[in-house]
Amino acid sequence: MKQLELLYEGKSKQIYKTESNSHVIVRFKDDATAFYNIKRAKIENKGRITADISSMVLEYLNNNDVSTHFVERVGDDGQLCRVVDHVDVEVIVRNVIAGSMAKRLGIDEGIVPENTIFDLCLRNSELGDPLINDHHAVALGIVSYEELGEIYAAAAHINNLLTELYAKAGITLVDFKIEFGRAADGSLVLADELSPDTCRLWDTATGERMDKDRFRRDLGRVRETYEEVAQRLHNALK
Ligand code: TMP
Ligand code: ASP
Repeated sequence: MKQLELLYEGKSKQIYKTESNSHVIVRFKDDATAFYNIKRAKIENKGRITADISSMVLEYLNNNDVSTHFVERVGDDGQLCRVVDHVDVEVIVRNVIAGSMAKRLGIDEGIVPENTIFDLCLRNSELGDPLINDHHAVALGIVSYEELGEIYAAAAHINNLLTELYAKAGITLVDFKIEFGRAADGSLVLADELSPDTCRLWDTATGERMDKDRFRRDLGRVRETYEEVAQRLHNALK
């Protein structure tokens, strides 16, 4: 499908109009940002690698009966996606304690809780995507309680599928963030990237970090590690 004018440019992606009103092309940029633009860098080939990883993961989810916005890969760094009406919450799924949860609650990273943890955040980067709860989301008119039930069930199902996929790649899925949209018929659709920018991925054998924490925490070898994730996923999906 032909790419037309730029509709929107974010920190790490550009969204282009296409000939169809129901589809857009999402292009992944080489920019890395963290802490809401406080830390920024260009990482050569990052757009291509994150597009590759995100496309593999979304295609795998589509093939496992998860409804996502992903239609097909476009060129090296793009994806053809369905247009959806974005739901302004972010869902974070945590299998292992890390990041903001460890910091906020004063607990060590690496603890494995018995239950899966679901955080809900308001999608508002000016406010730093603050943590909210179900009642806030309903009071703000973003979702109904019924939709929240569907969102958590979908997030749990996606977590099971991704945990299994990453396990085949020798990687522990520590946590990830996802967003949803509503399709024309009102049904909920996963509408987000799924890449090392939005997931915590730890090498199961060594514990080495294979995600954006390498950039956030100045651990080095960001591109090389993202490439390694892509390569392992290619092998796991063979
Ligand atoms: P957190 O521990 O900083 O709350 O992050 C949890 C997960 O969410 C982690 O895998 C990174 C991802 N994430 C995003 O995708 N976007 C964001 O803006 C933030 C803060 C986290
Ligand atoms: N996604 C946010 C940013 O790009 C926060 C983060 O990932 O650390 O600034």
